Amino acid sequence: MDWETKLIHAGLDPDEHYGALSVPVYNASTYRQRSIEKPGRYEYGRSGNPTRNALEALIAELEGGKHGFAFASGVAAIASALCLLEAGQHVLACRDIYGGTYRLLSGLFPRFGITHSFIDTTDPAAVAAAIRPETKALFLETPSNPLLKITDLAACALLAKERGLLTIVDNTFMTPYLQRPLDLGCDVTVYSATKFLGGHSDVVAGLAVVADRELSSRLRFVQTAFGAVLGPQDSWLVMRGIRTLKVRIDAQQETAQKLSTWLNAHPLVGKVYYPGLPGHPGAKLHGAQSRGPGCVLSFALADGEAAKRFLHAVHLPVPAVSLGGVESILTYPSTMSHAALPASRREEIGVGDNLVRLSVGLESFADLKEGLDRGLRGVRGDP
Ligand SMILES: Cc1ncc(COP(=O)(O)O)c(C=O)c1O
Repeated sequence: MDWETKLIHAGLDPDEHYGALSVPVYNASTYRQRSIEKPGRYEYGRSGNPTRNALEALIAELEGGKHGFAFASGVAAIASALCLLEAGQHVLACRDIYGGTYRLLSGLFPRFGITHSFIDTTDPAAVAAAIRPETKALFLETPSNPLLKITDLAACALLAKERGLLTIVDNTFMTPYLQRPLDLGCDVTVYSATKFLGGHSDVVAGLAVVADRELSSRLRFVQTAFGAVLGPQDSWLVMRGIRTLKVRIDAQQETAQKLSTWLNAHPLVGKVYYPGLPGHPGAKLHGAQSRGPGCVLSFALADGEAAKRFLHAVHLPVPAVSLGGVESILTYPSTMSHAALPASRREEIGVGDNLVRLSVGLESFADLKEGLDRGLRGVRGDP
């Protein structure tokens, strides 16, 4: 099957469900066991649920991986992937990273003896130089959140293989439609399915995919032991969202490209961070390892005051936490997605109070441009 066709049909065997073309929601926490010696296919809702398993099969097929896992949130997927590590081990992660991942790595996992360093992963030589004897994983985002920096996935995965490290990639911004880290040699892909995969801002969910059987049984153990599984209703919502992923991303990305060009030429806008712009330092690499620049961009205004005036004046896109929905969303990293980072750390990595992140949805380009222009008029104090 072509990928577009898999998007519609993978994970569903209608014969298993009375011919239903939508996987039913199995609201069952437990299952009758015909034999107490040998458990049936399903035993208990935490270890398996037919609706969740259909979503897991779907994401595994879309990723070209072999084993998919659904979790209660993107952060739960990331935390579960990090549970593949043990006390005494060390993780190298990219410097500008989603704030929740920063919080896990800096606030939670050190309590269990798992340490970390944040480095500039856009430079493979810096990655190689930062590997310590106890380093056992690379945690990458490309494009990164919120500065859209590009890391060479194949080069990092190769280096990691040579040095015995796992490569975990948060592919939330790209989805398997635009980028497939497992095909480039990475070991684990994680997603906040709350974003583009769910796509409608109506569900919080996380996914992980691995290609290797041994890694799959280790992650299966974590999923059951840690227990942060996705419920059946939410699994169904994510599956419904995924069926339209390609058409949504095609349309959203086209508008994102136009808006980034328009913002880039606007006198009140400073730097625009978007790998679809020719001046982006990672544009060539990103073009080679993905199918498109995606639907998220960030831009800088003059200073923090200008950003606040802009966000107070703007109604469309909607100021909110999150991204990847059908509605365009403006996020202020300093107080929203990256509030978990201390202000000094945000400044150090370039996430200033003047930075705004935009996730482009399905509204018309004309309306979004007008909405952003209204916000920018607010910066000047114009009506
Ligand atoms: C890149 C990225 N990864 C992970 C997450 C966390 O996902 P969730 O909110 O579903 O836990 C987010 C949330 O904003 C994100 O932007």
